[in-house]
Amino acid sequence: MTRPTTPKTPRTFHVKSFGCQMNVYDGERMAEMLGAQGMTAAEDGLSADMVVLNTCHIREKAAEKVYSDIGRLRREDGSRPMIAVAGCVAQAEGPEITRRTKMVDIVVGPQAYHRLPELVDKAVRGEEALDTDMPAASKFGALPGRAKQPRPTAFLTVQEGCDKFCTYCVVPYTRGAEISRPWDAILDEAKALVDGGAKEITLLGQNVNAWGDDTGRGLHDLIRALDRVDGLQRIRYTTSHPNDMTDGLIAAHAEVEKLMPYLHLPVQSGSDPILKAMNRSHTRDSYLRLLDKVRTVRPDIALSGDFIVGFPGETDADFEATMSLIREVGYAYAFSFKYSPRPGTPAAEMANQIAPELMDERLKQLQTQITSDQLAFNQRTVGKSCPVLIEKAGRKPGQLVGKSPWLQSVHVYAEGAQIGDMVNVEIVSAGPNSLAGELVQQKEAA
Ligand code: 5AD
Ligand code: SF4
Repeated sequence: MTRPTTPKTPRTFHVKSFGCQMNVYDGERMAEMLGAQGMTAAEDGLSADMVVLNTCHIREKAAEKVYSDIGRLRREDGSRPMIAVAGCVAQAEGPEITRRTKMVDIVVGPQAYHRLPELVDKAVRGEEALDTDMPAASKFGALPGRAKQPRPTAFLTVQEGCDKFCTYCVVPYTRGAEISRPWDAILDEAKALVDGGAKEITLLGQNVNAWGDDTGRGLHDLIRALDRVDGLQRIRYTTSHPNDMTDGLIAAHAEVEKLMPYLHLPVQSGSDPILKAMNRSHTRDSYLRLLDKVRTVRPDIALSGDFIVGFPGETDADFEATMSLIREVGYAYAFSFKYSPRPGTPAAEMANQIAPELMDERLKQLQTQITSDQLAFNQRTVGKSCPVLIEKAGRKPGQLVGKSPWLQSVHVYAEGAQIGDMVNVEIVSAGPNSLAGELVQQKEAA
């Protein structure tokens, strides 16, 4: 039997987030809000009365996945949970979603999810439950405070949206214009997270380094204020735009001890004509000079980036320029994608779209280079000691997994250590994706 047209009030929920860390954060806030309404979290989508699919629209594959995920929520007896599509697909496709499938009860955009409880009530009453408003006021004030969830690392969204309009990107349309959350709200939330057990906070934003307020404070001021929060041990931030990489923020990397030596600074391409067609507003040279500045104040910094191969019109020479930039920088980590035309973006209309086979070939070549650079970076840490924040149990008995200051995963056997501990580890071996280490105290005692 299919579920009745008027769904019954859900008592349990499951939130599944796709895509970026900001979606992970939004998913947590939605779960906390539903919890505050008296609902309880179900183990998985199969047993939940209500499932929230918190979607990503950045590339075509990610967006199409939503529909197959919805289909998979149909149960053996033909019934299904109440289904809410949230996130960027909800924003981009809106009412098209309920036209395309009858299985969805609620459509809620990333700037409207504080109204999810009202939408659930509407769906129960059998009314249309769609909200993709992008109000000028931030949703954050309307959300309940952070729930206490003991975990050593936490995300904290401080900035949302993007005004840069890179020609390939849907973000300015799905997340709206750049907004910065207020200073006090951020510090209060950070303190609540630390009280709940967080040792590390990652500040999030589509353009996190564009954070600012009307008193002229910037992200580096926020980082310095967080540095003074007792109990907080590590600060990170992501994702940054080269144009908002201020001298103040670079100086913070030299001076703020809690700010970890890791910088994710997407460049997308190493070729100036392509950067121009992408509307990136930086050049290969200005990007490289920026990295030089950062490395001057923080020589050990781990650099990571985002790359798109196969942007319309990308020639062999353009691609080679990207490869040479990668070799020149020596990234510690990188994310790389095949260009995916997104409806409504200028690049989707450009001539000279690149054949999929050529994109495959370029992506493979680029990823081979990145993997070897990652391995080289990781190998340089072998023999050194560093603090590792333990985040979870490893796959083998007695093994724990944590993160180095440079965001590398470190596997370590550390008897007596617990999740949330900061332990001193000597790195003994390295692969492209992780390191193995030994507890320093343990070695001394032996
Ligand atoms: N096609 C491929 N990759 C994209 N990205 C953004 N839009 C697209 C697109 N249309 C990548 C960029 C960005 C990252 C979040 O996703 O590299 O930095
Ligand atoms: Fe998209 Fe460019 Fe904005 Fe990043 S800076 S979110 S790639 S438009």
